[in-house]
Amino acid sequence: IQNPLVDSFGRAHTSLRVSVTDRCNIRCFYCMPLENIRFKARAELLTFEEIARVVRVAALHGVRKLRLTGGEPLVRSNLPELIRLLREIGGIEEVALTTNGILLAEQAEALKQAGLSRVNISLDSLNEEIFQQITRRAGVERVLAGIAAAQKVGFAEIRLNTVAIRHLTEGEIVPLANFARENDLHLRFIEFMPLDADKAWHTDQVLSGRQLREIISRDVAPLVEIDRLDKSQPATDYAYADGKQRVGFINSVTEPFCGSCNRLRMTAEGQLRNCLFGTTEWDARQILRSGGSDHELAKLLSDCVRAKKASHGMDSPEFVPPERAMYQIGG
Ligand code: GTP
Ligand code: 5AD
Ligand code: SF4
Repeated sequence: IQNPLVDSFGRAHTSLRVSVTDRCNIRCFYCMPLENIRFKARAELLTFEEIARVVRVAALHGVRKLRLTGGEPLVRSNLPELIRLLREIGGIEEVALTTNGILLAEQAEALKQAGLSRVNISLDSLNEEIFQQITRRAGVERVLAGIAAAQKVGFAEIRLNTVAIRHLTEGEIVPLANFARENDLHLRFIEFMPLDADKAWHTDQVLSGRQLREIISRDVAPLVEIDRLDKSQPATDYAYADGKQRVGFINSVTEPFCGSCNRLRMTAEGQLRNCLFGTTEWDARQILRSGGSDHELAKLLSDCVRAKKASHGMDSPEFVPPERAMYQIGG
């Protein structure tokens, strides 16, 4: 590898999260506004060829793992075609997807055939009413069908991502944990982060990993912490003492894992970011569309990585959430 993407704190960047669209077919309040959304015009989004070119350069510099995000990645047409392109790139070992699952039942087969490695599916509630309070759209049945389809076509290690919100989803924690155990799914609870478009986030709405663990070990089954095999993984995993499945906690707010972060991000319009909470972006699209060289792209990646801060700094009094909301950055 030439010039591995190591930042000034010694963290090597081997994972790239690529947003393929800012559009979405639901409207989770912690991510998107309900109205007056200004989506990017199609021409502003990187083409599949442009994405693949950035990935080729990134792979030469040590990126091994890709994750497609959005918005909702499955609303971008012909996604399997992009997956095929990316799978062919030397050095890329894994192409994964994070989806809300609404369109997964109809696309699971094609995604599998295109070579998608893994899927993570977001589901915060099994109760349609609460689901709609979060997403402002209907959908539990479709997400459940999406999960079943993903299992049926042979995806393994499917993870469920559940954002836990105080005063809203407490009653969903135990049913979701049981659902995951019964269906052989790896559930991970995520602390609500200040990335909502409405900037209405308040610490009071954060259900911490610690509180979630207490509820689960009391009402589902006792938990035993297990070693984090992959240190760059955001979740702290626990095994249920009865041996039936495990459960993870992504404690981005109360126990940040920035110290072992290996992630870079690219937005749907080709802006590189070194952190979810970063305030600067590095413009790959401008290089791509002005006849720039791979060398210039490599330099951009390296500049982006070198500018990375030690952590998101959420607990500092000077913390300001990023200008852009989750759907514009990529989950
Ligand atoms: P795998 O571990 O490969 O399964 O994927 P992942 O957990 O990295 O990806 P996923 O998209 O499923 O991420 C789950 C959640 O973790 C996201 O929805 C975010 O809430 C959170 N997350 C992912 N990446 C970061 C990050 O770089 N920083 C922080 N603070 N949170 C992140
Ligand atoms: N805080 C925590 N997780 C979030 N996600 C979206 N917005 C937020 C937020 N503000 C999660 C979704 C999904 C992934 C794409 O990001 O639930 O799992
Ligand atoms: Fe869409 Fe994901 Fe944002 Fe929900 S969290 S609105 S599924 S992009």
